[in-house]
Amino acid sequence: IEFQQMKSFCEKPCIIASAKGIYLTDVYGKRYLDGLSGIYVANIGHGNEQVIEAIRKQQERAFFVAPLHAVADITIRYAKRLSEITPGPLNTLKLVSGGSEATETAIKFARQYHRQSGSPAKYKVLSLYKGYHGATLGALSATGLAGSRKSVFGPFLEGFLHLPPPTCFTCPYSLSYPSCDALCARMLDYLIVNEGPESVAAVMIEPIGNTGGIVTPPPQYLPIIRETCTKHNVILVFDEIITGMGRTGN
Ligand SMILES: Cc1ncc(COP(=O)(O)O)c(C=O)c1O
Repeated sequence: IEFQQMKSFCEKPCIIASAKGIYLTDVYGKRYLDGLSGIYVANIGHGNEQVIEAIRKQQERAFFVAPLHAVADITIRYAKRLSEITPGPLNTLKLVSGGSEATETAIKFARQYHRQSGSPAKYKVLSLYKGYHGATLGALSATGLAGSRKSVFGPFLEGFLHLPPPTCFTCPYSLSYPSCDALCARMLDYLIVNEGPESVAAVMIEPIGNTGGIVTPPPQYLPIIRETCTKHNVILVFDEIITGMGRTGN
């Protein structure tokens, strides 16, 4: 992995031979409890028989349908079922292969939307320090982590700015909730106004931060962010790569 040194890994590599349920087994037969479920991608367990059977059946029917030319019937069924469980009117889907591709696609959507709806100068993307949005260069530009995950890969894309996060346990403004009146959320308006609302395309945040520390914002936070984005015609993108698909229990 690009942000870890291979040298120390190669001295004592962990090489997994198989996985079932919540356990991984290495090439020497040692068993590990997979406490992170992959990194959340195997949250219904490794080697799930229903998943294996569904993949096998589909491989027999059609291996790949190029989206340039057509769509697979199973993709339409999947999209329909997914839009039945997503909230409210969230029923326009673009299916991609991973988190970084998803966040970059969202950024492209936001810019395209503004181009096609009379605000072509909106291109900037605002996100949070400590936020993580992926490892590819666009997603990494939105990522707000310093250190090995980001620093050595710069320079990053132009037009990506960051705000202090709602880390109440170590408040960037040295204030306490609720007397702070959610200053960290209100600073979004300040940033947009001072960057020029005509230049800001999107705000991207994790509803609950993960990689930079588990950051659950105070109750006022997200409504203020929502209101501010609406006020300035800025697309609000929730990066739910970690929190989506029932992983918070909902
Ligand atoms: C919130 C968030 N967004 C995006 C990503 C990037 O996902 P991927 O590693 O699938 O590209 C991650 C990965 O952990 C993530 O935690």
